[in-house]
Amino acid sequence: MNQGPLDLEQLAHTRGDNLTTIQSHILAEERKHPGASGTFSWILSALTLSAKVISAKIRRARIYDVLGALDSENVQGETQQKLDVIANETLLRCLGSRAGVAVVASEENEEPLIIQRNAEGDRPYVVLFDPLDGSSNLDVCGGVGTIFSILRHDRRTTKAEDSCLQPGKSQIAAGYILYGSSTVFVLTTGNGVNMFVLDPSIGAFLLVGENLMIPRKGKTYSVNEGNRATFPDGYQRYLDWAQANDYSSRYAGAMVADIHRTLLKGGVFFYPPTKKAPEGKLRLMYEANPMALIVEQAGGKAFAGKDRILDIAPKTLHQRTSVVIGSADEVDHVLRHL
Ligand code: AHG
Ligand code: MN
Ligand code: MN
Repeated sequence: MNQGPLDLEQLAHTRGDNLTTIQSHILAEERKHPGASGTFSWILSALTLSAKVISAKIRRARIYDVLGALDSENVQGETQQKLDVIANETLLRCLGSRAGVAVVASEENEEPLIIQRNAEGDRPYVVLFDPLDGSSNLDVCGGVGTIFSILRHDRRTTKAEDSCLQPGKSQIAAGYILYGSSTVFVLTTGNGVNMFVLDPSIGAFLLVGENLMIPRKGKTYSVNEGNRATFPDGYQRYLDWAQANDYSSRYAGAMVADIHRTLLKGGVFFYPPTKKAPEGKLRLMYEANPMALIVEQAGGKAFAGKDRILDIAPKTLHQRTSVVIGSADEVDHVLRHL
């Protein structure tokens, strides 16, 4: 049937129907900033390449010998899964060759690695990451993720770690990749939150959600209630209140999966101080900070006890923190019990 000539101009501007890859999205963002050197899009493309490699390995994990634990432990004394190491090496290899990356720091390496002391370009970056979050979920085919945080490198510092130790509010970008029933890339460059899904048949992350906003309320809490007896009293009072008010409980055991659900559906995720982890379990620099930036950019809140996570001045690369992250009203409900 002849429908007449296509109106290409109209087709190109059909809002919502355009196919936008994460790469073209970043290029378009960079064009809004005259003088941008383009190094940021190089870093983003290293992260998307890593995400595709890690996703492919995870999808085939039951077929090839990449599941299970190693004999080694990471710097935090935690058992490393084989895929923790593979994901870490993938990120280091992808980021290691990019112009503009001065320093990288990972959950799996005690010290940050200097990639280029005087990285090319006038605005080099520091990239911090948790290569595989929730890795104990791998053996049972549960959701796992990668989390990253990007800071500007401070050339005046003499030690690489000092360039990493900036408060979360200094992040210029942050994101996570959830390897769930699909592979989802959630990104903020400090100007709202966008969501991309990997179409494995074409190997590209496609934009599926722009300017995500977390629901203001959501009657779901997400916490490891097995630790409840050793939570500070305020968190226990909050749980009594939530249960008396018909809240549901959801806990995947991987922060990326739990925060992703919280971001889309509303609710609150928290990991309080416990007897086992008196400062909290999660790591400030590459778990709490990037998630806090994303959730705040989506209109939610992120606290460590009564302090805003993004204001915390870090002292060490692997320091831990408690977290209360989620819908604005739900975070307030937790905080008023503390
Ligand atoms: P990782 O696998 O990177 O060490 O992180 C695991 C973290 C986080 O993903 C999750 O929210 C939390 O540990 C779960 O801890 P519990 O098993 O103590 O609930
Ligand atoms: Mn983690
Ligand atoms: Mn990890």
